[in-house]
Amino acid sequence: MSFMSIPSRSSLQGKTALITGASSGIGASTAVLFASCGVNTVLTARRADKLAEVKERCLAAYNDSGATCDENTVVVIEADMSSKVDLERVAARLEGRRLDILVNNAGMVRGREHAGDIADDDIDAMVQTNVVGLIRLTQAVVRHMKKQGSGVREPFPSQHCTMDELF
Ligand SMILES: NC(=O)c1ccc[n+]([C@@H]2O[C@H](COP(=O)([O-])OP(=O)(O)OC[C@H]3O[C@@H](n4cnc5c(N)ncnc54)[C@H](OP(=O)(O)O)[C@@H]3O)[C@@H](O)[C@H]2O)c1
Repeated sequence: MSFMSIPSRSSLQGKTALITGASSGIGASTAVLFASCGVNTVLTARRADKLAEVKERCLAAYNDSGATCDENTVVVIEADMSSKVDLERVAARLEGRRLDILVNNAGMVRGREHAGDIADDDIDAMVQTNVVGLIRLTQAVVRHMKKQGSGVREPFPSQHCTMDELF
């Protein structure tokens, strides 16, 4: 897998990025940064109140970029990455919507205890969220991008590849 060059702000304008774990931290900052480049954003996470705050920040940044907002500028979808049903709902919400960029950011660290002391629930939560959920969503998004004929996937944290390189 090769690295692609960092896209210019102007080349990003008008694109749409789906950012998971957009309610805080790196995901929220990434969403606002994209919005400041005139990128439409689809924000997912579990905490609706935090997502609403990030949506407001994205709209402000998007406005500052000089682009005109509409109902598709920032779309919020509450979803638990560990829930198959939630991810199917996310995929359904993407229908009919162009998607150019996926930022697979949602995740957490559980089970910091020594090996042998880690709780089963922590193992399940980590794997279902960070691994299974990420793969399920990526599958859905890649299918979506294949149908529309283009897109860029960004596996967290640092690898980029184009659709041509993926398939
Ligand atoms: N910060 C670092 O130094 C560092 C280093 C290496 C890797 N990472 C990874 O980078 C990503 C972002 O880190 P961060 O520091 O920005 O963490 P953060 O502030 O805790 O953000 C994590 C995000 O993931 C979401 N999330 C967690 N569990 C989820 C679930 N089951 N379903 C849906 N969303 C879920 C959270 O949203 P809700 O709680 O609202 O659902 C939140 O928006 C994480 O995957 C983390 O493991 C971070």
